[in-house]
Amino acid sequence: MKKTYLLAPGPTPVPETVNLDMASPMIHHRTPQFSQVFAEAAEDAKYLFQTNQDVMILASTGTGAMEGCITNLFSPGDKVLVVNGGKFGERWGKISETYGLVPVWHKVEWGQCVKAEDLKDILDKEPDIKAILVQASETSTTVSHPIEEISKLTRDRDDLLLVVDGITAVGVYPLPMDAWGIDALVTGSQKALMLPPGLALVSFSEKAWKANESSKCPRFYFDLKKERKNLADKTTAYTPAVSLVTGLRSVLKNLREEGIDNVHKRHNRLARATRAAVKALGLNPVAPDAPADSATGLFVPEGVDGGKLVKSLRDDFGVTLAGGQDQWKGKVVRIAHLGYVDTFDTIVAVAALEMALKKFGHDVPMGKGVAAAQEVLLEAY
Ligand SMILES: Cc1ncc(COP(=O)(O)O)c(C=O)c1O
Repeated sequence: MKKTYLLAPGPTPVPETVNLDMASPMIHHRTPQFSQVFAEAAEDAKYLFQTNQDVMILASTGTGAMEGCITNLFSPGDKVLVVNGGKFGERWGKISETYGLVPVWHKVEWGQCVKAEDLKDILDKEPDIKAILVQASETSTTVSHPIEEISKLTRDRDDLLLVVDGITAVGVYPLPMDAWGIDALVTGSQKALMLPPGLALVSFSEKAWKANESSKCPRFYFDLKKERKNLADKTTAYTPAVSLVTGLRSVLKNLREEGIDNVHKRHNRLARATRAAVKALGLNPVAPDAPADSATGLFVPEGVDGGKLVKSLRDDFGVTLAGGQDQWKGKVVRIAHLGYVDTFDTIVAVAALEMALKKFGHDVPMGKGVAAAQEVLLEAY
């Protein structure tokens, strides 16, 4: 027998009660029954996004909503400032290019967060830039970018939008959309929302809806104005992912009951515990200065093949963590602590890492990481 643990930064484990809700008999989507479920989910999504604006719920993964932001807010030829500090930052730029926008690439070293003052310099030199496109949590590097500081550059300007990929940040740490003046915020179901993949959530500020009026990019499926109109009638433009929306309603009710501040504190505690373990084991974190609370990345020690380590953790130990991407392939392990993950999942992740490193010949002070994590985790009890 092998018990398995899913501790990668998405998809994340799904709570048993939510799985049961999603297994309810299928209902038709053009019915009062579905409208009720959908309207409740959409209302609670506003609480999650900390906004009074509508939150559109799309049958798509997160990337679909990212594409929707580009096509609904901009026109071919528009200049956008892309924070490129990892795989997902790069994705903003690639989508922009696909639709004929002109990305101004701002390269940030992997493992570092962007500096708001560097963005300010670029904006001062190029005042025709229409938006900053950035990740709140750059999952590939486990870095958190300073969204609140960046929002100070955009919120008093009518002609400049802040478009934030919060796919591994919404429901992990504070990103109060209205209070900070975020103009577009995106998340996906398979992260902190602890659902299977297949839903994307996106909300626009008033300023963003204004930009939508003059945006000329082609769009059909991801026409967010159309979705907003349908949302007002408690429905969607096309067939919704009925079971996932049912699960979403259930998860959001649970999160609301826990309270958004407690949800953020829980993630922060698990993240601090994992970071303490990494330090106690003498390992090097990949994002020492601005670590995200969604996942913790570490460099595998010299002489250990990170690819084989992650494979063995998954296939031999039953513990799925994530490896490094692109330039960090084989060199990095990422331990997630978002969604339906608690104290003892975090201990499992650290204990398994210690054991796997030992198996691969690294001289690990066994139990030292676990003990360091436990000290932090005990705060919850
Ligand atoms: C920060 C970030 N942006 C975008 C994506 C892409 O989302 P999806 O795979 O749901 O399309 C991911 C997925 O891991 C992510 O972590």
